[in-house]
Amino acid sequence: MMRVDFNVPMDDGRVTDDRRIEMALPSIRSVIDRGGKLVLISHLGRPKGDEGDAKFSLQPVAARLAELTGTPVTFASDTVGDDARAKVSQLQPGGILVLENLRFNKGEKAGDEEFAGQLAAMADIYCNNAFGTCHRKDASMVALPRAMDDKPKTVGSLVEKEIRFLKDAIENPRRPFVAVLGGAKVSDKITVIEKLLDICDQVLVGGAMAFTFVVARGGSVGKSRVELDKLKLAQQLMERGQGRLLLPVDAHCGDSFSADCKKLICEIDLIPDVMMGLDIGPETATRFGDLLSTAKTIVWNGPMGVFEMPPFDRGTQAVAQAIADSDATSIIGGGDSAAAIAQMGFEDQVSHVSTGGGASLAMLEGREFAALEVLDDA
Ligand code: 3PG
Repeated sequence: MMRVDFNVPMDDGRVTDDRRIEMALPSIRSVIDRGGKLVLISHLGRPKGDEGDAKFSLQPVAARLAELTGTPVTFASDTVGDDARAKVSQLQPGGILVLENLRFNKGEKAGDEEFAGQLAAMADIYCNNAFGTCHRKDASMVALPRAMDDKPKTVGSLVEKEIRFLKDAIENPRRPFVAVLGGAKVSDKITVIEKLLDICDQVLVGGAMAFTFVVARGGSVGKSRVELDKLKLAQQLMERGQGRLLLPVDAHCGDSFSADCKKLICEIDLIPDVMMGLDIGPETATRFGDLLSTAKTIVWNGPMGVFEMPPFDRGTQAVAQAIADSDATSIIGGGDSAAAIAQMGFEDQVSHVSTGGGASLAMLEGREFAALEVLDDA
């Protein structure tokens, strides 16, 4: 029984980004190629006890998996009910069965032992190959491996690779070690900023969260997005990171949040009242690029601007290009930065693109994961 994270973006019943499925394939193939009978379990989205809601069904994901593996994939319409039990018992060596969304059962989010015990009863070996969910304590992540008792509980190759990059490479980084952080909010990233300030030679900050720092040091940022309740915290982080926390020097602004707005490039502390910063400016992009070109380890989490809306994708593009050009060990956090690197076509030129959003941040923060501690070999 392999716990995977097939919580993939969907549109109208079709998978629109199958990277999480692709990345799980080596472990899936390893089981079926050796004649194992493979039961795959996952959640999809956040259904609220709405059992049977087609929008959250894993059936289209099972169909996509069949296309990717070139192997028939059976689907069970429940998780621990009659259909799942019958189909598990009919599984042939080398066969794949996907069970319905774990979160259709309330026991999953509740970490319920009875639910976990019913899943465990269907399996001889448990494998955690669901990095994106490793920061959760859902039943299939913690109670299920516990319920396996003496039966093997192992880690899949996707999770093993994520740990190798997000934990090991950062514990013993080649230096200079440079982190680039972006995204909208300082509040989402406080702990990771603190952690990275302790271990990095430089932390480059872009994205809307830079404006909170700029206001905290007395700059004017016009209509830019600012977290007014985080100014004190931003000040403390700047004090802690003196010389190592680098803010943008200029910003690419617009008079509204749209691609055809009136645009202006100006110093980041002097944004006019009618303007909002939507990207880092060209001078910042050059400075960040120069620093990244000398780095030996790079961690990137969060875009530099509104990369979905050209021309405000230029800063993110420049950072992505600099990372792709460098020979550093480069680690890209999941979520928006993974989407940005894929959109810009640089996925193959970086060392690792994480499949985890919240999980990759939590691992960078140095948090321990109960879902990994409970395994035999993680
Ligand atoms: C994710 O996409 O971050 C994981 O699949 C976890 O999903 P969750 O935040 O709904 O637990």
